[in-house]
Amino acid sequence: MKDIYYVDGEFVTADKAVIPADDLAILRGYGVFDFLRTYHGKPHFITEHIERLMNSARQIGLDLPWSQEEITDLVRQTLSRNTHRESNIRIVVTGGSSPDYITPQGKPRLLILVTPLPEMPAWWYRDGVRIITIHSARNIPGAKSIDYISATIALKEARRQKAVEAVYIDRDGRVLEGTTSNLFVFNGDTLFTPGRFILNGITRRVVLEIAARWHAIEVRDIELPELLSADEVFITGSNKEIVPVIAVDDTIIGDGQPGHRTRNLMQAFAASHDHDVCSP
Ligand SMILES: Cc1ncc(COP(=O)(O)O)c(C=O)c1O
Repeated sequence: MKDIYYVDGEFVTADKAVIPADDLAILRGYGVFDFLRTYHGKPHFITEHIERLMNSARQIGLDLPWSQEEITDLVRQTLSRNTHRESNIRIVVTGGSSPDYITPQGKPRLLILVTPLPEMPAWWYRDGVRIITIHSARNIPGAKSIDYISATIALKEARRQKAVEAVYIDRDGRVLEGTTSNLFVFNGDTLFTPGRFILNGITRRVVLEIAARWHAIEVRDIELPELLSADEVFITGSNKEIVPVIAVDDTIIGDGQPGHRTRNLMQAFAASHDHDVCSP
């Protein structure tokens, strides 16, 4: 069965999902999106994701004609028209059509794409992954804008180097975040993560809450030497959860295996979403 998307007022099959060529998303890369997944068929942290979508829109000056409740309802409707066991959900708001091809007209388009959730490779979680660093940054880091050019370039380079993610280092030497993930570092029992010039990850927030049970937490800038000499490193994201990192560029982290603190957080994180779903 074909995936069903919501596109600008209609439910259509994925092959019929089109928007006009004069949309500012196409012409100018002007738009925002958010990404979430289901656990046990239910959209996870939907309120937080839609709030972040609305915040992203505010940050790029895109006025949304929909309330949070309307978007939530449309997400649920789109989900109910699909039959995947677990789904990825992409909510996209484009700038809309524009007669002068640059000025928004206050008529954005809303797209909701529901697709089957792919399995992440089991070895990532068992063995840990290698990531690379790249001197680059996102334009408006607090907004999930549809402009992921730096991510596409960085990920292509990561794949060329047989790594699974690239993390940005900005002009001032700060390590910020991955192309689609947030970054965490353990030094002893203290957990560090950058707090500015990043996307406020929903997974990051959950991890910080969980980690506070066992660890001191410092939200602050991290520089490359600190990353390379860390005892443990991991990345987080809605699509990948918590992925242990065992090498950064050519430097082995710790003893080259996922560390026990990271493993503990992975377990607690898994328990947290099962609990969320089971609780009344
Ligand atoms: C740039 C960036 N940082 C961090 C994240 C992780 O955010 P979340 O945990 O909300 O998925 C993402 C998610 O795609 C991202 O694109």
